[in-house]
Amino acid sequence: MKVVIAQSYAEMSRIAADVIVRLVNEKPDCVLGLATGSTPLGMYAELVRAQARAALDFSCVTTFNLDEYRNIPTDHEQSYRRYMERNLFEPLGLDPARTNLPDCTNPDGEAACAAYERAIAQAGGIDLQVLGIGHNGHIGFNEPASEFTDRTHVVTLSPSTICANSRLFASPDDVPRQACTMGIGTIMGARRILLLASGVDKAAIVVKALRGPVMPQVPASVLQYHRDVVVVLDEEAASCL
Ligand code: F6R
Repeated sequence: MKVVIAQSYAEMSRIAADVIVRLVNEKPDCVLGLATGSTPLGMYAELVRAQARAALDFSCVTTFNLDEYRNIPTDHEQSYRRYMERNLFEPLGLDPARTNLPDCTNPDGEAACAAYERAIAQAGGIDLQVLGIGHNGHIGFNEPASEFTDRTHVVTLSPSTICANSRLFASPDDVPRQACTMGIGTIMGARRILLLASGVDKAAIVVKALRGPVMPQVPASVLQYHRDVVVVLDEEAASCL
């Protein structure tokens, strides 16, 4: 595991974007796993700037997001597809056919998850998976549990996740109750992982994930077992290491 400590959120975002730019330049048809949330926003803005100055051509890249709410219209402003469209896909002019998120509209959630796994496999697997980390160590929607999850599956959101995500909805009642998420097995199947964390509020969980025992109660700790992980932290998130 390689840990890079940046001086600021802006520098963390530039370093992380550079990892992706180098991959896309080496392998223009690479498969990227992407995350939503606050942490990667600066990195996505850097990627948009890189393409604007012709340092990057994303046109042959295929993307798979970690997760998506269930039973939310795809064009709902808080769907993860809309987040990705606003922050990355539209500014980069990506062909929607190359951008994948679990199908949140399929009434059969397990079938949607199985189809997602098949699509990842058909694309040749994920070359680089971007991750943020939750305050409780979750990655994707894989929350602390008694065992690590395996492949893409339906989750019922915990009350604390509903509460945390309600800041983006009109009220907690409007937050979807379920999501589809890549499992820990899916994430660990990526050839390379890029984990980002920013802010002093992530410092305690970063130490547990990177230096603590590997256990499903801290889902991100499993990354210690992956053979190619790059962790980019700002100084605040690294302050307890
Ligand atoms: C996002 C995701 C989540 C976030 C995590 C951190 O697709 O799956 O696991 O990465 O909740 O979120 P932020 O970056 O908002 O702190």
